[in-house]
This record gives sequence, C-alpha cells and structure tokens, in this order.
Amino acid sequence: MQVINEMKLVIDALSVNEGYCRVAVATFVSQLDPTIEELNDVKTSVSEAVTNCIVHAYPKKRGKIYITARLYADGLSRVTIKDRGIGIEDVKKAREPLFTTAGGERSGLGFSVMESFSDKLTVRSKPGWGTSVTIEKRIAGKGK
Ligand SMILES: Nc1ncnc2c1ncn2[C@@H]1O[C@H](COP(=O)(O)OP(=O)(O)OP(=O)(O)O)[C@@H](O)[C@H]1O
Ligand SMILES: [Mg+2]
Repeated sequence: MQVINEMKLVIDALSVNEGYCRVAVATFVSQLDPTIEELNDVKTSVSEAVTNCIVHAYPKKRGKIYITARLYADGLSRVTIKDRGIGIEDVKKAREPLFTTAGGERSGLGFSVMESFSDKLTVRSKPGWGTSVTIEKRIAGKGK
C-alpha cells in the first residue's frame, strides 16, 4: 500500500516530552480525518509506548526516542516508537497483562492497553539493542 505522508521525530526520553510526542503524532494522523474516538485510541497507544521509553529504556543514561509515523492511502496509520535502551529479555512475558519490572509503582498494563486500542501491535526488542513498538490503527474516519 502506498505511503501518502511520513514524519520522523527524535526527542530526548524525558517525561516532560511525553505530551509533545502524543500531540505531534495525533496532529499528524488527523490528516486521515479520524473520529474523536479513533484519534484518542492513537493518542493512548502512543502515550503508553513513549512512557515506556521514558520509564524503562534508559535507567542509567540519557537517551532518545525515535518516532516514525506513516499514513497510507487506504487509511492505515502506522507509528513506530523506538529506543536504543536496555531492551526486553522476554517480550512475550512483558506483553502479558500485569507483568511489570517496576515493582509496585506500575500496573504492568501498558502493552495490554496498546494492544486493545490499536488494530495490530508489533514489539521487537533485544537486550542491549533497544525496543521498537509498532502501532497500526486503521482510520475509518468520519465521512468514509
Ligand atoms: N522501551 C522499553 N525498554 C525496556 N523495557 C521495557 C520497555 N517497554 C516495556 N518494557 C518492559 O516491559 C514491561 C511491561 O511493560 P508495560 O508497559 O506493559 O507495563 P509497565 O510499564 O511496567 O506498567 P504501566 O505501563 O502499566 O505503567 C515493563 O515493566 C518493562 O520491564
Ligand atoms: Mg508501561
């Protein structure tokens, strides 16, 4: 399927930047004329993925978040949120509801939320290499 528009964003993995990432991606996806609900789904998924980069990826050093968003002619939006942080040892386990390595501070529901608010979620990760999360959301839109 043909890519009709693409954007890339590289930003420091700081909690102060979470809102910017969420709004930047949402504004870009708005071109597909989503309903408010569709746009909120994208915002929620992006927010969870970006928060994971901020909270988990770089425990010892400063690092970046790499975001690519692509829009397709058939109304698909595909957003990849990547870091070059510590990575995840067991992705299957990490994706299970309530799994967290953050002790009592977190609920371990981020991946479950991303999964339920998107059409497809792909997670690639390797310890020492980083993590890449791709969120696909089909925008049926208002007038379609
Ligand atoms: N970008 C990342 N880098 C390294 N580890 C990650 C990353 N994203 C997720 N993880 C690992 O996967 C686990 C599950 O992530 P998930 O988002 O589902 O839950 P959480 O972040 O622990 O809690 P919540 O999202 O509910 O606040 C995390 O606890 C962490 O160990
Ligand atoms: Mg999380």
